[in-house]
Amino acid sequence: MRFMRESGLALRPHGKTHKSVNIAKLQIEAGAVGICTATVKEAQHMIGAGIPGVFLTTPVVGSQKLETISQLSTKASDFKVVVDNPNVVNQLSTLMQKCGASLEVLIDIDIGPQRTGVNSLPDILDLAASVDNATGLKFSGVQAYSGMVQHIEDYHERLVVYGKQLDFLKQACLELEKIGLNPDIVTGGGTGTFDIDRKAGIFTELQSGSYCVMDVQYNAVQLLPDVDNPFSTALFVSSSVISNNASGFVTADAGIKSFAMDGPPPKIAQTGPADAEYGISGDEHGKISFKDENTSMELGEIVELITPHCDPTVNLHNYFHCVRGDTLVDIWPVDGRGVI
Ligand SMILES: Cc1ncc(COP(=O)(O)O)c(C=O)c1O
Repeated sequence: MRFMRESGLALRPHGKTHKSVNIAKLQIEAGAVGICTATVKEAQHMIGAGIPGVFLTTPVVGSQKLETISQLSTKASDFKVVVDNPNVVNQLSTLMQKCGASLEVLIDIDIGPQRTGVNSLPDILDLAASVDNATGLKFSGVQAYSGMVQHIEDYHERLVVYGKQLDFLKQACLELEKIGLNPDIVTGGGTGTFDIDRKAGIFTELQSGSYCVMDVQYNAVQLLPDVDNPFSTALFVSSSVISNNASGFVTADAGIKSFAMDGPPPKIAQTGPADAEYGISGDEHGKISFKDENTSMELGEIVELITPHCDPTVNLHNYFHCVRGDTLVDIWPVDGRGVI
């Protein structure tokens, strides 16, 4: 929050990282203007728990999900969604007229990652105009998120690649302004680009998510140009040594099923012998190897592991066990688990 306050920007952190109402509440208490969600289900949980300013950052299709969106908007008047297709705009407008409420809509702009969004200036302007003209919808601004650049480890290399994408976003905002559709909200950015985003002079708010727990991937990214990374790791998978018969290694009870495996291997946090290294050794098992053959660990000894990629790892688990020092202080559900 301090970085955002210094830059005069709002933070609407991405709740896809934690899917947790309790963590969202802490973020709101710390000054966040709302919470981003990636799925309708996450939005349902957040709105159901009274979290303000929920923004669904993924374009949604299908009558059932769109109907759910219109229903959610009757419960939370500040609920926002993105669109990248004119047919969805029409469907949403029909549903909103039926329920008699109004929905804030942002245009999703593809500035380079080729995932979702509209990627040409004429299409951006047309879509914004169609939202603006649609009964029951309010054009609130634009979103541009570039996932591909977040993990470019070198700050300056990231700045070069991402800078070109931001130029396109800037141009889109200027063109929208020319047709009288000045975006109130310009949102985007992740943990990897937060420093570039806050200095770009384009965004009104950011949607970084992973910063609140971090992971092995992000710990390797140089987040600020001249100083150490400002965010500490707060998410660990806790495992126990379950077999120690051999020399040079022991086996712990966390393997492929405990971690999303789309990143580097999990890393041992500051627990256990200094020369210990973790490697996946099967669905339920991890091999902890030691450089010194004489090193070993006791049965039941706890090994805390930093997760390769926090978001999809959280999605594998039902609960967060919240610890302060060695004391368990709370157990929180991962409310929005699931992919839909
Ligand atoms: C649309 C969108 N915004 C924000 C984020 C948050 O990014 P990060 O977890 O890198 O902070 C993501 C993550 O994938 C995302 O998909």
